[in-house]
Amino acid sequence: MEKRYERVIIEGVDAELRGYFTKEDRQVLVAGTATGDEVDVAITSVSQHHPLAYAEVVNVHQRGENFQQPSCRHAAPIRGRCGGCPAMHLAPSTRDQIQLRAANEALEPLGVNVTWHSAPQQREYRNRSNFVAHRRSQEVILGSYAPRSQHVAAMRDCLVVRPAIMDLHRRTEDILTALKAPVDGEEEALRWVSMRESDGDVVVELVVRDADAQWIVQAADDLFALENVVGVGVSVNDRETNAIRVARTNIIRGKGTLQERYGQIDLQIPPGAFAQLNVDVASRIYNRAAQWTSAGPSDAPVVWDLYCGIGALGLNAVAGHGSAETARIWGVESAEEAVVAARQNAALSEVSAEFDIADLVDPDVVQALQPPEALSTPDVILVNPPRRGLSQPVRDRLCDDWTAQTLIYMSCDPKTFLRDATALQKAGWTLEEVEAHDMLPITAHVELLARFTR
Ligand SMILES: C[S@@+](CC[C@H](N)C(=O)[O-])C[C@H]1O[C@@H](n2cnc3c(N)ncnc32)[C@H](O)[C@@H]1O
Repeated sequence: MEKRYERVIIEGVDAELRGYFTKEDRQVLVAGTATGDEVDVAITSVSQHHPLAYAEVVNVHQRGENFQQPSCRHAAPIRGRCGGCPAMHLAPSTRDQIQLRAANEALEPLGVNVTWHSAPQQREYRNRSNFVAHRRSQEVILGSYAPRSQHVAAMRDCLVVRPAIMDLHRRTEDILTALKAPVDGEEEALRWVSMRESDGDVVVELVVRDADAQWIVQAADDLFALENVVGVGVSVNDRETNAIRVARTNIIRGKGTLQERYGQIDLQIPPGAFAQLNVDVASRIYNRAAQWTSAGPSDAPVVWDLYCGIGALGLNAVAGHGSAETARIWGVESAEEAVVAARQNAALSEVSAEFDIADLVDPDVVQALQPPEALSTPDVILVNPPRRGLSQPVRDRLCDDWTAQTLIYMSCDPKTFLRDATALQKAGWTLEEVEAHDMLPITAHVELLARFTR
């Protein structure tokens, strides 16, 4: 395909919320455009493996009716270079329609009609943010990587992260600049700063190349002196990897655990443990799982919670049943600190629960998994795996011998959900309903909640 400028009309917007037009049987993707936009574009790359190409806008003749000017001055590619909110140029109702259509198309082979649940809040919803550290002129900036680039985009005044974090973000940049903290490829560099907030309290984590670097002591003191900072932690990452946190967090000032209410349950969240970023939307999903759990015939359901993390989904699912004498949970998770927190969270909610640490990817481990005897016949099985979906051993056991009246699957990736749901349907599970939730508004991310029966 020849790479030259041309004038095109954007035909539609794909599941990743990128505008596209068709040329020589290829879909050419143009970030930051909406259906009906009339623009000059330059083709930037052509895929060798798929009928796809990429282009960028070089001139705008006319915007279509679905376009809106992004409200954030950093939003790429129209106003700035931050790619965190790639669909800020589309109105919320347009995004909702596109995402519902995309979810239905993606799950069409399952023969189910997906329902869409938009987010109550489009701004200030993120309770955690990871900022990459970078020096620009003499200043340390805490930003984000620009799309498909190593350029670090500024994030001051980000509109989707909670205000308490963004207030500290600015102060942290000032502290790190004053300290001349090493960043980028420098020795003993700071690589990332991660902040998690609950109820105004913030834990700040420095991800560094070397935990013994001298500057860390002063940075920790200065950060801990800031209003709202209740803890400062350090974790080491000296690997050449895209992963941010590869080691446990050492809390060096204050405390590392925050408490946040998700659904019906107050949860202790230790540093490094997984917790959903959007509390309102996650709470809706957890409450829905609770409704589905209570709809079953048992007054005292036994619930399995696989990939349980700190117990958020499982504890909420039984919240309607309340007390230690009724519902009971068996949870499995690989991260030790999450399991410790899950046990604490169950005790605080007075739910009788047992949690095991196990790697659900390992076939031998999964084969040998044994729930406590009293919990060996679940009424409801909950699964909430990471993006890669169910591991093959877990999928196999759900198809072969793990059974329950209801299986509730919470998924952050429609592709792996489709693979798993197809296998489950073949094995005799009936897919009754699928909800799609806008967990991370203004992005293409969709969180699915599905109910199967047997
Ligand atoms: C999407 S989170 C779900 C957490 C929890 N259900 C919740 O609602 O917060 C996925 C969880 O799977 C865990 N996980 C990832 N790989 C795993 C593995 N190989 N074995 C067991 N758990 C794993 C992660 O640590 C994480 O807690």
